[in-house]
Amino acid sequence: MLALLDFARAVRDGLSKPGQRELPSIYLYDEIGTALFEAITFLPEYGLTRADERLLRRHAPAILEHLPPPVVVAELGSGTGRKTRWLLETLARREPVNYYPIDISPSALAKCEQELAVLGAVSIVGLEKSYLDGLQHVAVQRRPGQTLLVLFLGSTVGNFDRAAAEQFLREVRRSLLPGDALLLGTDLEKPVAEMLLGYDDPTGVTAAFNLNLLARINRELGGDFALRHFVHEARYDEGERRIEMHLRSLRKQSVTIREAGFTCTLEEGETIWTEACHKYRVEEIPGMAARTGFVCEGQWVDGEWPFAENLWIAAAPAAPS
Ligand code: AVI
Repeated sequence: MLALLDFARAVRDGLSKPGQRELPSIYLYDEIGTALFEAITFLPEYGLTRADERLLRRHAPAILEHLPPPVVVAELGSGTGRKTRWLLETLARREPVNYYPIDISPSALAKCEQELAVLGAVSIVGLEKSYLDGLQHVAVQRRPGQTLLVLFLGSTVGNFDRAAAEQFLREVRRSLLPGDALLLGTDLEKPVAEMLLGYDDPTGVTAAFNLNLLARINRELGGDFALRHFVHEARYDEGERRIEMHLRSLRKQSVTIREAGFTCTLEEGETIWTEACHKYRVEEIPGMAARTGFVCEGQWVDGEWPFAENLWIAAAPAAPS
């Protein structure tokens, strides 16, 4: 109930923003949105997830070499477990593994647990919590001498504004002890046409993923968005180095969202901004680490699809001068 009220409030606030209307990207991921995102990860035009998985498959032993046993693994966002299994499998050859996927979606956690159940030597405890609450829960329960490895894969960090991303990473650092680690996946800059195709595939899966947000508002909040009067649009902002997903209104139209007690009129050609996907340069990552309380210990870059796995170690706080 509370979640629905939060959703209604977020929709009303986002759609009444002066200038650019917005909808928060977290609401793209209901059951249907999650299934559509899963389909996106198989598209030839969207190589991000496959690059992430390739890097983990190839470099799990080298990544884990940096971490003294015993290691406890917490993952921010449980995904499907497809990528994570490579790390967990490698770690399980070395020691018994405790793995805590953290996600607000119970169905995402259930899928992850199901996918990883084949890994006999891994104990999986899903935490249905926000990333930071879940991480804090794991951090307070860990035993002395254990190294905490936090996984934040898939370039989910790119869906935050750059400043908000650094603030979030600082919060992550606050739950860790010096020597703990964060493995951060970051999608790298590529030619603009290639990036645009990744977010506007000819099959229309990404368009369906984006439009589903309006359909979800209709289903859950009693909205009356006419989906055929909107089109998906992906743009690249060179200054911010990010893809933006928008929904463009094809005509002047009024929309009412009953549960939000809200009506607005969209102009023909006006857009609703639904997601930002920031892209990075490998060389900017160590600076991000330093600014948020980490040291960037290693980077692994995919040869087929520019994407980096970055291993950050929590630094000791600076001594007061
Ligand atoms: C989940 N996240 C990292 C994806 C991305 O590429 O930013 C979400 C996505 N949106 C459209 N395609 C994929």
